[in-house]
Amino acid sequence: MSTAPATLTRAAALRLLLDRLGEGNTTHHCLATEACMRALAERLGQDVELWGLAGLVHDCDLDVCADDPERHALVGAQVLREAGAPPAVVQAVLGHNDKAERVSLLDRALWVVDPTTGMITAAALIRPSRSTSDLSVKSIKKRMKDKRFAAAVSREQIRACEAQIGITLDEHLAVCLGAMDAARDQLGLGGGSLS
Ligand SMILES: [Fe+2]
Repeated sequence: MSTAPATLTRAAALRLLLDRLGEGNTTHHCLATEACMRALAERLGQDVELWGLAGLVHDCDLDVCADDPERHALVGAQVLREAGAPPAVVQAVLGHNDKAERVSLLDRALWVVDPTTGMITAAALIRPSRSTSDLSVKSIKKRMKDKRFAAAVSREQIRACEAQIGITLDEHLAVCLGAMDAARDQLGLGGGSLS
């Protein structure tokens, strides 16, 4: 007889992530997304733990789907269901890669935050400090205007913050930058040599 898995805890989610992705850039990206989602949940009066969990696990299948956008998020959703992730997290993960309609505020926030962390990371790593510690919202916005800089990062998705989650671009970037800077050492953004 099979029993339902226990609800996925943050510790179990991190273990799952590290088992699948190791400690490289993708895990840093997932941790950055977690930090931003938690901060936005706080700002928007939402469930901080739930939103953080969605951010943490959203790319958990990139070990097998990095070159397979058609399966990315579908595989992750299955992995997460089996691990006991809350349905709202599974739904947001599917939605972030257009595998389900984005209905809830959580679904929409994850879609906006995903490229935002990429832009902030790229903007930090090009600085002499290689850190978020002296990065400003103004500087991130300047980078966003340069189409050649981090060209794969969707500006459209980041700028959709106002329509999707109801906060201005300035505030969205400030909240996400603050969250990532507070966790910069875990995200590989604390400065120093290349890792
Ligand atoms: Fe992502």
